[in-house]
Amino acid sequence: MNTTETIAGLRFCLSTAGKVRQGFVPTMGALHHGHIALVERAVNECGRVTVSIFVNPTQFNDKRDLDRYPRTVDRDKEMLSRVLRENDVVFLPSVMEIYPGEDKRVFDFGNLGRVMEGEYRPGHFNGVAQVVSRLFDIVKPDVAYFGEKDFQQLAVIKALAEKTGQRVEIVGCPTVRESDGLAMSSRNALLTPEHRAAAPVIYHAMLGSQNLFLEKGKEAAREFFTGKIGEVDGFRVQYYEITDDTDLVPADYASDMIKGRNYHICVAVYAGGVRLIDNVRISLE
Ligand code: PAF
Repeated sequence: MNTTETIAGLRFCLSTAGKVRQGFVPTMGALHHGHIALVERAVNECGRVTVSIFVNPTQFNDKRDLDRYPRTVDRDKEMLSRVLRENDVVFLPSVMEIYPGEDKRVFDFGNLGRVMEGEYRPGHFNGVAQVVSRLFDIVKPDVAYFGEKDFQQLAVIKALAEKTGQRVEIVGCPTVRESDGLAMSSRNALLTPEHRAAAPVIYHAMLGSQNLFLEKGKEAAREFFTGKIGEVDGFRVQYYEITDDTDLVPADYASDMIKGRNYHICVAVYAGGVRLIDNVRISLE
């Protein structure tokens, strides 16, 4: 695989690709098997794949969160070298390379950007939109791969591609879980051993709340979820929502669910000082 830190270097690498399907996996590094699953899918479906590693400052509304975001570039490169091919590219730009001047663009995603993460992390999706649109401009992929764990981000990025007219297919890939059910996330590395051991409760309590929602509605399901999370010392629920995956319109009762749409339980939980998000699709079978 090739490695480059500059746009010029990336353009040079990509100029040698000829007419092949260009795949792109944007990441902030601290790679885990969830990222590798995205890269493997891109490698299977595309003639050339670019993986970016860039911890994007504009999407962190909390500076402490940015400072302590895990950075493991050598390990990331090692992991990528096992799945990428000779002509694939790892792009590791500096902040100056991506933002030579302040990015003042403001994106409005309406409801998509306001609910859940939008409510609790103001400015977050604007920063995601800034960096992803910039990276799309630089890499010019035919197809880009994102994890479904970041459920709302995926909806926002699909809207972004439509809004900006960028000709890129957005592919969502299933959440990869540890064997105990915890969704893989770069932030898991920040958990204390006690909180790591307890964290699968998030997934299991979501699953456990599903039938309550279908039978009694969201408040009963949320109460169940909050109760289970509250049993762990140091854990706190920030939100528990049920929305469709297109417009992110909440459903309070099963009768609110619009036919033909997929609904997900979406949660954010603080495990000590570490904020974890997760979601599961509601199964009607
Ligand atoms: O999901 C992430 O890791 C980031 O939000 C992304 C899409 C790479 C943009 O910085």
